[in-house]
Amino acid sequence: MTTLKVNGQTHTLDVAPNRTLADVLRNELGLIGVRVSCSEGECGSCTVLVDGEPVTSCMMLVDQGEQHELQTIEGLGTSDDLHPIQQAFVEQQGFQCAFCTPGFVMSAKAFLAENPNPTREETAFAMSGNICRCGAYPYIVDAVMNAAEKLRARDGADRRAAD
Ligand code: FES
Ligand code: FES
Repeated sequence: MTTLKVNGQTHTLDVAPNRTLADVLRNELGLIGVRVSCSEGECGSCTVLVDGEPVTSCMMLVDQGEQHELQTIEGLGTSDDLHPIQQAFVEQQGFQCAFCTPGFVMSAKAFLAENPNPTREETAFAMSGNICRCGAYPYIVDAVMNAAEKLRARDGADRRAAD
């Protein structure tokens, strides 16, 4: 048995240990925001957060996900209450077909947690592990820059409310 904690919920699963984390998240837990394209760790579309760090889940065996806090795009906002990064992607039209978007959003979440006030160059570099086949890169960078602003505003408001 494998126990995974995903988006705050614990799941105990009877799955073969040679399956990838991406496969199990998608096909056992229905978390289809985990997109699989290359299956070789090259495109970033399957990016999830493992203890807050971005990881290509197609390159992890499912058992390696045990004892960690896993987060997928489904653990961010809801369609009625988008996370600020998701809202920024919508506002900046940071996608065309959107296949790559969950991976970019998860990479952006980890990046902005480390660097809340990045330059455009830092943002472009941080997103370079994710591939967008539609070539929406300028809009994606706009979206991450906009998300950084939104998160700074939100976190500033939280701090003021706590004062
Ligand atoms: S599907 Fe995992 S990196 Fe491409
Ligand atoms: S928007 Fe189509 S792959 Fe990025």
